[in-house]
Amino acid sequence: MTRPRICVTRRIPQAGLDLLADACDLRVWPDELPPPRADLLRAVAEVDGLLCLLTDNIDAALMDAAPNLKVISNFAVGTDNIDIPAATARGLPVGNTPGVLTETTADCAFALLMAAARRLVEGAAYVKAGQWQTWGPTLLMGQDIHGATLGIVGLGRIGQAMAQRARGFDMRVIACDSAAATNAQALGVELMPLDAVLAQSDFLSLHVPLTTETHHLINAAALARMKPTAVLVNTARGGVVDPAALHRALRDGTIAYAALDVTEPEPIPPDDPLLTLDNCLIVPHIASSSHATRGKMATMAAANLLAGLRGERLPNCVNPAIYAT
Ligand code: GLV
Repeated sequence: MTRPRICVTRRIPQAGLDLLADACDLRVWPDELPPPRADLLRAVAEVDGLLCLLTDNIDAALMDAAPNLKVISNFAVGTDNIDIPAATARGLPVGNTPGVLTETTADCAFALLMAAARRLVEGAAYVKAGQWQTWGPTLLMGQDIHGATLGIVGLGRIGQAMAQRARGFDMRVIACDSAAATNAQALGVELMPLDAVLAQSDFLSLHVPLTTETHHLINAAALARMKPTAVLVNTARGGVVDPAALHRALRDGTIAYAALDVTEPEPIPPDDPLLTLDNCLIVPHIASSSHATRGKMATMAAANLLAGLRGERLPNCVNPAIYAT
């Protein structure tokens, strides 16, 4: 019997590749950088399954270039890189990796918050540059985390995990969520409209998916509502923040600091004005990048792919509507 052909668009942790290699004829894109569009179109032409990354644009044209495709499995929880309605229209199940990266991503969001509040990156650079000459009474003064107000935009899994961390630091936690999470009260989180969250937060952490509604949700008007001392943390998607408005807000003191794991575009170009600012800390989309979590994401993405190849329901499917038809 011929084994299903699958394409994996980058080298993911070995545990996932091992599961796939046992059952499939596996092609893994070997480069460090994502496959260029033309290569990806060629690579999917004969495959039965595609395991892709958030760096791959999986649109209708790509799906149509893969006539044998039975399943798309994303190595991520976010699926804004995939045209979900187009997949659904073609009866293609799309898998993702929710849950396993919740705590790891919240760890990183909180680390960014703390690094920004206490100016850790500036401090490390100061020491490395040989500038540390004495203990200074006003040296690199930052902001207290305990007792401050954390605003959470999007109280889903990761937003809730962020709230738990904040409570351990004796923070007041406020949030807005269109789904009005039922366990907000149990978490000690006060729900309120976005404008109130923007106005009251000392730290604002974003945890919404990127959709047409959330694109540039944090724009010039939103930034203008924030405190001049506020710190913005983004581990969601770069597109949730308008980068030009953020640059102006940081430059002009509309807000104090931004700590970003994600940017628009990604990667951020080396000449982007945000990179010229001392009050902007940017790391390269690594919030879920712990050894354990990336390993679990790999096995979960492999399990979704293998289920789809067998014609079974994906353990984690973002378009379950395809099973209703
Ligand atoms: C990472 O950003 C993910 O969506 O899993």
